[in-house]
Amino acid sequence: MHTVGRSHTTARPRPSGINTRASFRVVPSGAALGAEIQGVDFALAVPEDVKEALRKAWAEHLVLLFRDQDIDDHRLLAAAGIFGPPHDSASRKYHLNAGRKVDNRYMISEHPSVSIISNLDENGDPVKDNGSLGSYEVVWHTDNSYVEVPPAGSMLYALVVPVDGGGDTSFNNQYLAYEELSDEFKRVIEGKYQVHDSSRNSAGVLRPGVRLPTKAEEVEGPTHPLVRVHPVTRKRALYLGRRRDWPSNYIVGMPNAENEALLDKLWAHATQSKYAWTHKWRVGDIVLWDNRCCMHYRTEVDPMQPRIMHRTTIKGEPPIAPW
Ligand code: OGA
Ligand code: MN
Repeated sequence: MHTVGRSHTTARPRPSGINTRASFRVVPSGAALGAEIQGVDFALAVPEDVKEALRKAWAEHLVLLFRDQDIDDHRLLAAAGIFGPPHDSASRKYHLNAGRKVDNRYMISEHPSVSIISNLDENGDPVKDNGSLGSYEVVWHTDNSYVEVPPAGSMLYALVVPVDGGGDTSFNNQYLAYEELSDEFKRVIEGKYQVHDSSRNSAGVLRPGVRLPTKAEEVEGPTHPLVRVHPVTRKRALYLGRRRDWPSNYIVGMPNAENEALLDKLWAHATQSKYAWTHKWRVGDIVLWDNRCCMHYRTEVDPMQPRIMHRTTIKGEPPIAPW
């Protein structure tokens, strides 16, 4: 059994020189997105001017990395709260409906907006398949695109990471992916909407109590524009969700074969390595990403080694179509 959880429930007083505009540094990754933020400690109170600088850095870099954090879920929620109100995890209800119990150690958190992303089973042992993401490779996706109002962002905090055991997480810049589409391609997807199937999670695992759709009419999930306007930056980004075979994730009003061909082309374009940045986790890392303008991907995890992350999501708005 691996016990996790930190003890700092309330913010400690802030020594001078930490969490100030002067201590605050933005170090860009050098890739198409991502920056490390230095001089910020979420165990301590964060003043308003630093919060403002963090929001600005997020809008500019899409993904922010904070190292060496040591906080509990309350502080994690407070950190995410700098960027917006909490969003309740969309996958939680499937697990609760299937009879899984709330257990803050490794499965379902008591906080509806905190998900425990671990490869542990109910005994606390690492496994390949735990009915959630387990140790699987996690395909390129944005979080909860299968609900009407997907979360604006997600914040993932590493509590236990395997040593050289995979589970690296990559992010890609979907503003750039949109910008670099040919004018002709932009015209082809103009005005188009996609259905986002909710049946499987981002590791491809069927959610508990759910049937895989076999025809378009059976797909459960919302319809979102293929291109969305970011409410803060006002820039356009490709919004693809996750790639599944027919009939999951189809473009409305387009015949099957054409649908698959167009989605294949879009996905091949959007997931090019030139748009991506990869993060290798250390304990204490927090990564915040923007689900409105980037996708993320995780390599397989060594199923013999525990990996425990706590994730919280930030409330979003219905995707804004540019047309
Ligand atoms: C997630 C996710 C990736 C990872 O928490 O939404 O996709 O690295 N996780 O575990
Ligand atoms: Mn995800």
